[in-house]
Amino acid sequence: MSFSNKLLNWYHIHKRELPWRETTDPYYIWLSEVILQQTRVQQGLPYYERFVEAFPTVKDLALAPQEDVLKLWQGLGYYSRARNLHKAAQQVVASGEFPDNFKDLLELKGVGEYTAAAIASFAFNEAVAVVDGNVYRVLSRIYGIATPINESAGIKEFKKLANQLLDPKNAATHNQAIMELGALQCVPKNPNCNICPFQTDCVAFNDSRIDELPVKSKKTKVKNLFHHYIVLDTPDHKTVMQQRPQSGIWAGLFEFPYLESNGPILLDELLQLDGMRELMELRFRESGITTTSLPITIYNPEPIIHKLSHRKIHAYFWVLQLDYHVEEAISIQDAFQKPLPILIHRFMSSYWNSYL
Ligand code: ADE
Repeated sequence: MSFSNKLLNWYHIHKRELPWRETTDPYYIWLSEVILQQTRVQQGLPYYERFVEAFPTVKDLALAPQEDVLKLWQGLGYYSRARNLHKAAQQVVASGEFPDNFKDLLELKGVGEYTAAAIASFAFNEAVAVVDGNVYRVLSRIYGIATPINESAGIKEFKKLANQLLDPKNAATHNQAIMELGALQCVPKNPNCNICPFQTDCVAFNDSRIDELPVKSKKTKVKNLFHHYIVLDTPDHKTVMQQRPQSGIWAGLFEFPYLESNGPILLDELLQLDGMRELMELRFRESGITTTSLPITIYNPEPIIHKLSHRKIHAYFWVLQLDYHVEEAISIQDAFQKPLPILIHRFMSSYWNSYL
């Protein structure tokens, strides 16, 4: 049995009844697809119903004040989608008719390949495949494709495969079905593969790679880093700082001695961190601090969040308020004269503001 036949058989048994599946009106289909790009079906349904009731035709939407459109969109987030929806409705009304094919649909404000393919196939049965997150997941698993889905090579490869598999006579139903398979059966976590019609064909299932597919490259993913700065505060308001190496992030700038952890931690976990012992026993030895006699008065409000292009630093400042002097310490005034990462400057300004 062909891929499409298997898919359609499954769909006829398992599909959900949804209002936008009962219509071929491109306006309603468009509304539903734009809403569903922002939220899941269950949360999206009431929005869809309110939009259809408030603006039963594309003309009603076009003529509405923008505020009314934004108000109905409230809670869905990413408000430029609502503004584009409104502008595109005005485009449609100005042109006199709703575009009736993939290529012309792409001309509408905010309508990209996915939305154009959805409207063209659902409303006009045009043989163009939809490729959304569900489709990437289904195809990458069944065909065992590990090309990252967020890079141009992967986007091209999956689009090509999706179009090859599409049954041109049943474009609308095929597209609904493959998305529904992804939404109900081939779900991201713990899919029940034992009841899947594609189990025997599925490369990911047969190779136990369900959890590995689809692949998303982490190239642009922001990494979370957790910095723990150990701040000495002596009775004469001096502190200990150190200079960063001459290469890498913040090269040559000054900061407090610090450690890293893999996530947020509590005080007793701080004491267990790699390097904490060395820091206390070697670096701070002269100051008389040991891990068993930590004179810690913690000034540890919410971490300061510092965003860099590929990193998000969660900076915690742990203050040791000492009741004795430390040879190596420098005055707060001198510390402020040093070149400092802005993150360090922000902490110092808030903690030592009365000494500035
Ligand atoms: N998600 C995006 N489009 C959908 C549709 N037409 N039906 C169900 N879920 C969807």
